[in-house]
Amino acid sequence: PTIYAITPTYYRHVQKAELTRISQTLALVPNIHWVVVEDSEEKTDLVRRILNDSNIIFTHLNAKTPPFEQLKDKDPRWKKHRGVEQRNAGLKWLRDHLKVNEDKGVVYFMDDDNTYSIKLFKEISKVKRVGVWPVGLVGGLNAELPILDEKTGKVIGYKSGWKPDRPFAIDMAGFAINLDLILTKLQANFSYKMEHGLQESEFLSFFTTKENLEPLASNCTEVYVWHTRTEKPKINGLIPDLEV
Ligand code: UGA
Ligand code: MN
Repeated sequence: PTIYAITPTYYRHVQKAELTRISQTLALVPNIHWVVVEDSEEKTDLVRRILNDSNIIFTHLNAKTPPFEQLKDKDPRWKKHRGVEQRNAGLKWLRDHLKVNEDKGVVYFMDDDNTYSIKLFKEISKVKRVGVWPVGLVGGLNAELPILDEKTGKVIGYKSGWKPDRPFAIDMAGFAINLDLILTKLQANFSYKMEHGLQESEFLSFFTTKENLEPLASNCTEVYVWHTRTEKPKINGLIPDLEV
């Protein structure tokens, strides 16, 4: 199957560094189609150049977060949803351009700041309906992970430092969904109405139940993705005419 990786991204000093890292990970992955959605009024040359240089099959989109929903500089990051507009634009592109039962794929939401092992993409390729796996460095733990029943091997709960009783206590980086499901459940989108921190849970609820999740990464015992965050650098001066 083709892995459709949807990446929201926005301009800040570290954007080029983040996208360079992600694109060079993806260059090592066969069958990837990278859907990059800029949070901007227009597509930028910076992102365009990274994509053209990448040797990856890609689709370049943009969708600006409405000003009212935009995180202010001083806001703590949990105050607003991030990536809503952009992921929905990515979903719309898939739904407009791909055909049910014909195009075979798996959809993964791949934020631009996380760290991804190429081993993760082998796991994503195994997804039949909805696959899940551990995510490192998130939710106040060294890793969040689905808890499996020893006998049946099915997911019975979640280890998470933050609201483990969520319907699906899984970060955006911890699941992938079959393309046909995405193409047929047209009402499944992200929304600003969702409770903060419940985007993943509410989205997954459109497609599956806890019992039907497919545990991957050696029965959820391996960490192949980390919810890293890049420190915001203190920039006191700008070199003119240099794209960094
Ligand atoms: C956590 C989850 O890992 C995200 O997937 C989820 O969207 C977010 O919480 C949430 O609850 O909204 P976090 O690291 O706090 O993630 O979020 P960011 O990495 O800052 O943003 C997620 C994605 O949205 C990134 O790819 C980022 O580039 C993009 N983004 C962020 C924008 O496109 N515009 C923005 O103004 C901010
Ligand atoms: Mn992040």
